[in-house]
Amino acid sequence: MAADALKLLWLLHGVNLDMLGRRDAAVYGTLTLAELEARVTAEGARLGFAVRCFQTNHEGALVEKIHELVREGADAVLINPGAWTHYSYALRDALEMIGAPIAEVHLSAVEEREEWRRTSVIADLAAVRVSGKGASGYDEALAALAVACAEGGAA
Ligand code: DQA
Repeated sequence: MAADALKLLWLLHGVNLDMLGRRDAAVYGTLTLAELEARVTAEGARLGFAVRCFQTNHEGALVEKIHELVREGADAVLINPGAWTHYSYALRDALEMIGAPIAEVHLSAVEEREEWRRTSVIADLAAVRVSGKGASGYDEALAALAVACAEGGAA
């Protein structure tokens, strides 16, 4: 596929996800964030995406990164916001401005854990939601985003 045909996909990770590899492996797996990003970048390339990665432990930094994507454009966003998923209306308001398909991914089965993890304040903005499938959940989300991009639709 020609380089100019690649679609730009931003892989966004929120709070504590830089600690993958040190967090409970039974819940989050053994991959480090760098390994996960490399895996998503490779699988994304196979599907025609140029993948850019960003992680932060600062909510405002994530909001500002999303503002940048709103200004500069992105074809798709795959986000695992970590705990912000469950309560960050600021994140939600920022994502609402993204005019591209959004995938919400969680390594763990959030709906089968503590009650508070069952709430996602971004759920209705997501074209695709995957949880409890570990790193392969990201592959599933990428495939769904590729379809959404091919259909030319935003979430
Ligand atoms: C998580 C689930 C969240 O509840 C948690 O706060 C995380 C990671 C996941 O990938 O399973 O930090 O988003």
